Amino acid sequence: MKDITCIDDLRQLARRKVPRAFFEYADSGSYNEETLRANRADLEAIKLRQRVLVDVSSRSLATTVIGQKVSSPFVLAPIGLCGMQHGDGEILSARAANAAGIPFTLSTMSICSIEDVAEATRQPFWFQLYVIRDRSFSKDILGRAAAAKCNALVLTVDLQVLGQRHRDIKNGMTVPPEIRVKNIIDIATKPAWAWSVLNGKRKTFGNLAGHVKGMENVNSLGTWIQSQFDPALSWKDVEWIKSIWPGKLILKGILDVDDAKTAVKLGADAIVVSNHGGRQLDGAPSSISALPAIADAVGGETEVLFDGGIRTGADALRALALGARACLIGRAYIYGLGAGGQAGVAKAIDILEKELSVAMALTGTNRIADIGRHVLVGGTKKTAARKKG
Ligand SMILES: Cc1cc2nc3c(=O)[nH]c(=O)nc-3n(C[C@H](O)[C@H](O)[C@H](O)COP(=O)(O)O)c2cc1C
Repeated sequence: MKDITCIDDLRQLARRKVPRAFFEYADSGSYNEETLRANRADLEAIKLRQRVLVDVSSRSLATTVIGQKVSSPFVLAPIGLCGMQHGDGEILSARAANAAGIPFTLSTMSICSIEDVAEATRQPFWFQLYVIRDRSFSKDILGRAAAAKCNALVLTVDLQVLGQRHRDIKNGMTVPPEIRVKNIIDIATKPAWAWSVLNGKRKTFGNLAGHVKGMENVNSLGTWIQSQFDPALSWKDVEWIKSIWPGKLILKGILDVDDAKTAVKLGADAIVVSNHGGRQLDGAPSSISALPAIADAVGGETEVLFDGGIRTGADALRALALGARACLIGRAYIYGLGAGGQAGVAKAIDILEKELSVAMALTGTNRIADIGRHVLVGGTKKTAARKKG
């Protein structure tokens, strides 16, 4: 991986190594991809304030997230079908996160199951829940997550109906992969991927197979989600989940100040300002444009996490400056996984950490807690309102 110097290099390599249907599943956004593009464009538009002759020799990226000590302000975001980017992708990603000292989040829609990841790793991980129509499934899976010692629950609240990704439909996204002539030809040119997936523990949704009917072979992911996910999901369900989950609760997919306030009222330990990586409501604002108002409204009462478009350490600095306590990364690590398995995920984390450290130095900052709006051009306040960790 010595020629890999940035996340985009990992993306290019993943594009060559991962079958097209799965690469594009990860890469794309919903509909016209306006929100996907806005996530990047709005981050890039925020300019950092270069400062000089500040002693930055004692820099540290260490901080805490929901009371957990972490080596840097990054969290691996929940990614459905992670194990289709590389065989055993969830286990490899969790191991890379463990080694880096940051949390890994396992998606409900993972290929490896909660139990597979718990067995193969030593550190506790976070579990992400999608609530489906059959509420007894949610109750059961939370019991499984608690038994596996998952130390936080990420409840995703922005996907009770599915935003369409055109490329998934055109590619016939199925799990396991649909055997079409063009898929076979494509897979034949990706032998390392085929070997890793064939030798992986599982080839379908590990958390659901055997627990939800009709899960063994998902002919159309989109259709299955439309039929199983519950459009009636409401704040009452959040109260119910809170009452049955014994640990920390994080609400993911908040983009509106009023929703953030309700989440705080219901006792969320943290929220993730997120538009699902531009994969749900196309036309929604970029995550970074929504962050400051939400951080101002609730940042003193709950931890505000952020995701959407993070591809460089400087992006993370921008989000931290606008009030995020930590950044979830999605595609940045998924490209690493597709490019090089565990080493690729480790590389992605390392790239982001080194870039963040340099960006901190050149804005005259030594500690994560000292990052505030003053590191941005035009920013004034000394530090963002952040809940004490
Ligand atoms: C391929 C892919 C699959 C995803 N699957 C899930 C999921 O299962 N659960 C979830 O809460 N979010 C999911 N997300 C959203 C991510 O957790 C995260 O919000 C998003 O990727 C952040 O944007 P970024 O990719 O630009 O970093 C997924 C995102 C991608 C790209």
